[in-house]
Amino acid sequence: MASNDNNRFQAIIAHAKEYGFVFPSSEIYDGLSAVYDYGPWGSELKKNIRDYWWKNMTQMHENIVGIDAAIFMHPTTWKASGHVDNFSDPMIDNKDSKKRYRVDHLVEAYAETLPKEKADEILSNLEKLLANEDFAGVKKLIDDNKIKCSVSGTANWTDVRQFNLMFSTQLGSVAGEADTIYLRPETAQGIFVNFLNVQKTARMKVPFGIAQVGKAFRNEIVARQFIFRMREFEQMEMQFFVRPGTQKEWYEYWREERMKWHLSFGTPKEKYQWHVHAKPAFYADNAVDIEYEFPFGFKEIEGIHSRTDYDLSQHQKFSGKKMQYFDNEINQNYVPYVIETSIGLDRMFLLVLSQAYAEEKWTKEDGTEDSRTVLRLPAKVAPIKLAILPLLKKDGLPEIGREIMKDCRDEFYCFYEEKDAIGKRYRRMDAIGTPFCITVDHQTKEDQTVTIRDRDSMKQERIPIAKLKEIVKAKIKGE
Ligand code: GAP
Repeated sequence: MASNDNNRFQAIIAHAKEYGFVFPSSEIYDGLSAVYDYGPWGSELKKNIRDYWWKNMTQMHENIVGIDAAIFMHPTTWKASGHVDNFSDPMIDNKDSKKRYRVDHLVEAYAETLPKEKADEILSNLEKLLANEDFAGVKKLIDDNKIKCSVSGTANWTDVRQFNLMFSTQLGSVAGEADTIYLRPETAQGIFVNFLNVQKTARMKVPFGIAQVGKAFRNEIVARQFIFRMREFEQMEMQFFVRPGTQKEWYEYWREERMKWHLSFGTPKEKYQWHVHAKPAFYADNAVDIEYEFPFGFKEIEGIHSRTDYDLSQHQKFSGKKMQYFDNEINQNYVPYVIETSIGLDRMFLLVLSQAYAEEKWTKEDGTEDSRTVLRLPAKVAPIKLAILPLLKKDGLPEIGREIMKDCRDEFYCFYEEKDAIGKRYRRMDAIGTPFCITVDHQTKEDQTVTIRDRDSMKQERIPIAKLKEIVKAKIKGE
């Protein structure tokens, strides 16, 4: 597959570890499958993406407010939402290796080895069979194509069965008092159960939205592709409550809004595509994914779902509490319909990293070769915005650098470094995506100017220290 660039992907994973972005969880014990930790620059980048989403949703939309609900919820929540009965994936086990696969992943991996036309045919058959929940048909497709287990190398398969993806645990420490509760598999339910609390306390009028960012947990059977599919991950979700009958137009509105948000990172349009669901999840009447072309192909980054009044009605039924809104414009009580936008923060992080990563080589004016690995991160989400680099560790240059640091760090994340040759320091800043570096040199002492270097063009210009803060702030804003 043309878009399948495994070497590039492996290089991105190695870079993320070497430069403090992402580490395998509990690595000293050989890691934990599909669980990752974010390092110093990774946690900063992740926070900046989260903040950018949060600001866009709440501060920039007068009719959206945020909440921060607990991960643990009353167990009936998941019965009402349908997750206890329906939140499962069709799986198949290889009888020889005992390895379990999600059938879509198994077939997709097989399709990647085929010419495009044949691959498309098999994937389209699979989609139809899954849409009809025809698991015997899926098994036949796997058998007919003699798809093999990568561990045993055999095609000795069980039937296709459904497995629930929720993690469960016990609440309470005394035997007998214990009760099964779940680690939430989506943040959305924390929003639904708080619908009336928020509507009343924040005095919201339909149409309005509730946004939330938080951890979600899924016992993914085939967890692979680095932070793309994790067992513990973070979601950024927004439920937009609308008058019944208006859901189609709001669905279209949010499709457009969310694509605008993605493109505001400067990512070229052709790196994105839409995937309309033949069979939306059990709670939705319409669903579309935004897919991004990762180094391993086009994959889902965000889902936009028209969830009807399913969730609120279910909670009304199971709790016995009214989940209705009185619309005084039409003088009617109703259970609002919901349009949901749901994006994985870790996936967005991987998107930003994949898009930014570049290995560059060029010939210098003196004919020698040079190279660098650079993260061309959008300045607004880059972990460090400005590196302050005195040319020498003497002659009063560090003192000037420290003064600049003191003056700027309240406004944006600054980093001070005086060790090593300036070229080496530039390369380190390129590798973690720092958009601007300034050098303090002897001329600074004479005319209070510094050189500012642009990460992407590597061009340098002299600017007065007095204007530095405003210039960097404007550049971060993209002005
Ligand atoms: N509330 C709706 C919902 O959870 P979803 O399509 O299952 O819908 C939404 O998930 C988004 O969450 C996905 O588009 C993806 O970005 C992210 N996501 C889902 N499962 C994930 C996993 N195992 N690891 C990382 N991100 C995941």
